[in-house]
Amino acid sequence: MTTETTTQSTTGARLRLPDLLEGPTAAQLVVAADDLGWWARLLNGAGSVVPATRLQRSLARALERVGWLAAAPDGSFRLTPDGVEIAFNRGFVRVAVRGWEPTFRVLGERAATDDVIPARTDPAAVARGCTDIARRSPATIAAIAARIAADPVPGTTLDLGCADGGRLQAIGALAPDERLAGVDIEAGVIADARARLAAGDLAGRFRLLAGSVQPGDGPPPWLDDDLRENVTTAMTFFLLHQLASDGGGIAAVLGAWTDWFPNLRRLVVGDVMLSSGEGWHEQPWFAPTFEIYHELTGVRIWRDEEYRDAYTSLGWRVAERHDGDHPIVVTSVLER
Ligand SMILES: C[S@@+](CC[C@H](N)C(=O)[O-])C[C@H]1O[C@@H](n2cnc3c(N)ncnc32)[C@H](O)[C@@H]1O
Repeated sequence: MTTETTTQSTTGARLRLPDLLEGPTAAQLVVAADDLGWWARLLNGAGSVVPATRLQRSLARALERVGWLAAAPDGSFRLTPDGVEIAFNRGFVRVAVRGWEPTFRVLGERAATDDVIPARTDPAAVARGCTDIARRSPATIAAIAARIAADPVPGTTLDLGCADGGRLQAIGALAPDERLAGVDIEAGVIADARARLAAGDLAGRFRLLAGSVQPGDGPPPWLDDDLRENVTTAMTFFLLHQLASDGGGIAAVLGAWTDWFPNLRRLVVGDVMLSSGEGWHEQPWFAPTFEIYHELTGVRIWRDEEYRDAYTSLGWRVAERHDGDHPIVVTSVLER
């Protein structure tokens, strides 16, 4: 009886002990190689890396052992076909392994008394991982920028929950007359982004502000006359599901934002949708981790129809939809 039960549950879960033990190590190696800039170089640049220190050689050999790098006779390493997928998805790995680690770490202790673990993240890791996820879809960014650049009169594009400003930077490069603004609740992330962008070409067109974009009783303190009058495109990525959970649903949040910016022409919403499927392996990869993390933090993940119903109820039409990046990631460009 005992044997049968064990066999059944192991088969049902389809995650085996070796996955459990080797997976976390492999994920740490992926983040370490990313800290060295290897994945970007291997994917987009030179196509190979040459380890420069003993530790780098150990790391490269470990990545070879797991099947993601292949050694060449000259001492360099290249991506294998499996390695291409890892390099492409390194942002998800960083978010899950470093960004959400503080939540998973305290789960056992908090579960004795609490219902949820409110937003315990490493904000810098989440910001960097999300920007990597954004950068891997240049066609989506280019399509958004093309619409903005085609507006008869340039305006201000505001990113709500902008993290390190990576998306604004990419859009600014393609829409040269647009002004750019970003707001994020993490003051440290905003300070780092300001420092990084201060010396760049876009510095004169950029405003970065620390504050919350969660609708409350009145306008938020960061909303000054310049933003109220000039914001014509408002964007938000990977944040609306969270704000909607705390703030009365998707339409309530988008409706408040629409009130803040009377001259808004366009809303861009990128977010992660609830996937279908029961067990771990009936869902697209990353969906179980994403959904489990959000259940622990008390944040709802919303269905595609719930986003669409909210857009329609507020009079926004989906002018463009980009959903080829990952099965549960959708970006919609809304106009009215
Ligand atoms: C998952 S990250 C997405 C970052 C970025 N939008 C992207 O997609 O690359 C969510 C971001 O929203 C920020 N955030 C969370 N709650 C917020 C709030 N109430 N107001 C403003 N920003 C918030 C976090 O600090 C974090 O940078």
